[in-house]
Amino acid sequence: MPLVNTKEMFKKAYEGGYAIGAFNVNNMEIIQGITEAGKALNAPMILQVSAGARKYANHTYLVKLVEAAVEETGLPIALHLDHGDSFELCKSCIDGGFTSVMIDGSHLDYEENVALTKKVVEYAHARGVTVEGELGQLAGIEDDVNVSAEDASFTDPDQVEDFVTRTGVDSLAIAIGTSHGAYKFKPGQNPQLRFDILEEVSKRLPGFPIVLHGASSVVPEFVEMVNTYGGKMPDAIGIPEDMLRKAATMAVCKINIDSDLRLAMTGAIRKHFAESPEHFDPRQYLGDGRTAIKGMVEHKIKNVLGCNDKA
Ligand code: G3H
Ligand code: 13P
Ligand code: ZN
Repeated sequence: MPLVNTKEMFKKAYEGGYAIGAFNVNNMEIIQGITEAGKALNAPMILQVSAGARKYANHTYLVKLVEAAVEETGLPIALHLDHGDSFELCKSCIDGGFTSVMIDGSHLDYEENVALTKKVVEYAHARGVTVEGELGQLAGIEDDVNVSAEDASFTDPDQVEDFVTRTGVDSLAIAIGTSHGAYKFKPGQNPQLRFDILEEVSKRLPGFPIVLHGASSVVPEFVEMVNTYGGKMPDAIGIPEDMLRKAATMAVCKINIDSDLRLAMTGAIRKHFAESPEHFDPRQYLGDGRTAIKGMVEHKIKNVLGCNDKA
């Protein structure tokens, strides 16, 4: 099976009350860890590449590695551009083999966001590629841009129907209280998501797939592992998994996870070096990182996404 776009997987996810995991990939071990988990649990997957990942690993390497994962696993896998910030970047990914792109015009004013998103949709749809747009602004860090909690804004349900109709997007990322990075809430703060907004959005867009960015749970056992073995992330706090599970049973069809992968890999590698300081073969510690990622993704598929046996 070749790479797929997100159309069919989102339709099934919406109807089935589960979500597809969209995992950020930057190198071979991360791709292998994620897709080995998908294969073990027969789960459809989205592998997503940020502009930063593309710069780090090179477009062609990432495409070929993801194609290798498709061949190895036989799973339905979409290769998605995460947070595309221009028509040119989206075009380059579409021309270069991606099957899905996000055009993130959430920082623009409304009419500019509509115009840019529509332009990407026209180019993408003519080539069988699906498009994710965004309305509302998340707090946190993405590609070195730090949006403070004060500057973040929830999605306005009154805008979604107009935005989707005028742009033709296939899915919409909304802001309901998730945020990028490992520090989503302050210690002592009660984590909350605005399920009322999600419900209102899905009433305005019946059957339409919604996306949650910034949806890592910052799994405490990995934060502890990082801190136990010399790291310093004492106040890392994420979205409680039961809230994400609930969102997955609602209109949310795509849940973005990057920080949890970073934590799993870094925790495992820190542990490896603490326990075996004499090791210097990268296969030894990167192998542990890959195994930790596989375990993390299996956990997400079963306990958060509910997409096991849906491939
Ligand atoms: O939302 C951002 C993702 O976590 C990707 O992060 O831009 O540092 O690759 P990155
Ligand atoms: P996290 O930082 O919560 O993993 O979010 C990742 C993300 O939204 C990628 O687009
Ligand atoms: Zn994101």
